[in-house]
Amino acid sequence: MRLLTRLETERRLDPVSDKLQEAVSSVVRPRGLRDVLHGTWLGHPLHPVLVEVPVGAFVCAAVLDLLPGRRKSATTLIALGVATAGPAAVAGWTDWSELTKDRRRVGLVHAAANAVALGLYTGSLLARLRGHGAKGKVLGFAGLSVAGLGAYLGGHLAYAQSAGANQAAPEIARLPEEWTVAGSLSSLPDGRTAVRMAGDVPVLLYRDGDRVSALVERCGHETGPLGEGEVVGVGADACVVCPWHGSTFRLTDGAVVHGPAASAQPLIPCRVRDGKVELRQP
Ligand code: FES
Repeated sequence: MRLLTRLETERRLDPVSDKLQEAVSSVVRPRGLRDVLHGTWLGHPLHPVLVEVPVGAFVCAAVLDLLPGRRKSATTLIALGVATAGPAAVAGWTDWSELTKDRRRVGLVHAAANAVALGLYTGSLLARLRGHGAKGKVLGFAGLSVAGLGAYLGGHLAYAQSAGANQAAPEIARLPEEWTVAGSLSSLPDGRTAVRMAGDVPVLLYRDGDRVSALVERCGHETGPLGEGEVVGVGADACVVCPWHGSTFRLTDGAVVHGPAASAQPLIPCRVRDGKVELRQP
């Protein structure tokens, strides 16, 4: 754990990290492609889903390598793992390019470990295809060990550093449980957003005539201030664009229209009573 803390704060990685970030951003530029790779269409990051295939193939190949007479099946699984690691890596790099510096440092070592593992598995596949079964097994087990380190760092990124998690979701539990007045309807500008407090949680309100919708104001991607974001479109199609990385959320239901956010922005129950806008926990 001490090593991980040092890794998170290791600024000497930043020059490499910054250059790679620029490179990834310039290569994966089209917005539609970025949305696909972030998993905006899926409602969750795509990278961990794609990773299931090579990881599953490599683990099963290791089990088969321990059994007699299963060399061909193990070779087929390793070929599958090597072939499917590329798309998983591309999705991972795309997510990585929009993370904070501390997460990018850990992500860099996570990616490096996985690149080494992929190299070992590629060597294992070539050795097997050339009839060097024993060498193929050794390289395969070495690949699995290094991939295990990569997976550990990936777990740290996801669970200790919350990379890819919806950063807005915890705000829901801090909202008042009962209907609470957040302001008057007349104080809200029509067709624009306004920020009000519900308890101590900032909430983004959007008024469309007599209808008001409410979203958590902190962006689910990296807690950017949606209240400072531009509103595009009108009526039921109006969206707010996060000023930090451009995630775009529909104001009437929180649906994510463009990433890097992959999850919808949490919608808060909202009603108008006697000219007052009231909010509460879902
Ligand atoms: S904080 Fe990254 S898009 Fe909002």
